[in-house]
Amino acid sequence: MSTVQEQSVAADYSAVVRERRSVRHYDPSVQIPESVLTEILEEASLAPSSSNTQSWRFLVINDEAAKQRLHPIANSQKQVLTASATIVVLGDLDGYKEIGRINEESVRRGYMPADFAKQFTENSLRLYSGLPAEKMKSIVQIDGGLVSMQLMLSAKARGYDTVPMGGYDEQKLIEEFRIPKNLVPIMLISVGKAAADAPGRLTARLPIQDIVSWNELK
Ligand SMILES: Cc1cc2nc3c(=O)[nH]c(=O)nc-3n(C[C@H](O)[C@H](O)[C@H](O)COP(=O)(O)O)c2cc1C
Repeated sequence: MSTVQEQSVAADYSAVVRERRSVRHYDPSVQIPESVLTEILEEASLAPSSSNTQSWRFLVINDEAAKQRLHPIANSQKQVLTASATIVVLGDLDGYKEIGRINEESVRRGYMPADFAKQFTENSLRLYSGLPAEKMKSIVQIDGGLVSMQLMLSAKARGYDTVPMGGYDEQKLIEEFRIPKNLVPIMLISVGKAAADAPGRLTARLPIQDIVSWNELK
C-alpha cells in the first residue's frame, strides 16, 4: 500500500469531510460486514492519543437482540434499530497500562530504540498512575473524541454514514451491557447506509472569523 505522501488524497479527503453529515434515517436492509467494520475501527485507531496509549475500546452492537436492548437506553433513537451497527466508544482509565506492550511492538518493528522505549514506558507508567481520576477521565475523553471523529470519516470514505450520539442514559448503558468501572462511555456512533430518500440534512457553521483569533483572543 502506498503512503499518504505518495497518493493524491487531498480531493478525496475534502469530499469525505464535506459530505459527512449526521444521518438518522438508515436503509435497514444494509448490513455492513464485520470485516468492513473491523477495517473502519482499525483505521480509526490510527488516531493520535496521549503518549500513544490508545485507551479507546469499542463495543459493537450489530445483532438484533442487542440493538433492542440498546434502543430504549439511547432515548429510543430509531437509528439504533435501523443502522447496521451502533458502536459504543469507551475510554479505558487503565488503558495506559498497555504502554509497555505498545512500545515493545514499536521496538520490534524498528520504530523506536529499545532503551528509549524502556525509559518512555517507565516514565509513562509513573505519570499516568499518579494522575487524579478526573484528569485521567479527561484524557480518555479527549482521545475518545479523536478516535470517534476518525471512525466517522473512515466510514464515510467507504460510502457509509454515521451519527454520533450523546443522547443516552449512561447509567443504564453501564448496567445493561455490564461495562466495568474502568471503562468510561464516550459516545455512541450508529453506522449504516443512509436511506435513499433521507441522506442527512445540511447544517450551517459559524463564520470562520467568529471562531478564530490570531495571536490574542478577541
Ligand atoms: C457528542 C455529540 C453528541 C450528539 N448526540 C446526538 C444525539 O444523541 N442524537 C442525534 O441525533 N445527534 C446527535 N449529535 C449529532 C449533532 O446533532 C450533529 O453533529 C450536529 O447537528 C452537526 O450536524 P452534522 O453532524 O450533520 O454536521 C451529536 C453530536 C455530537 C458531537
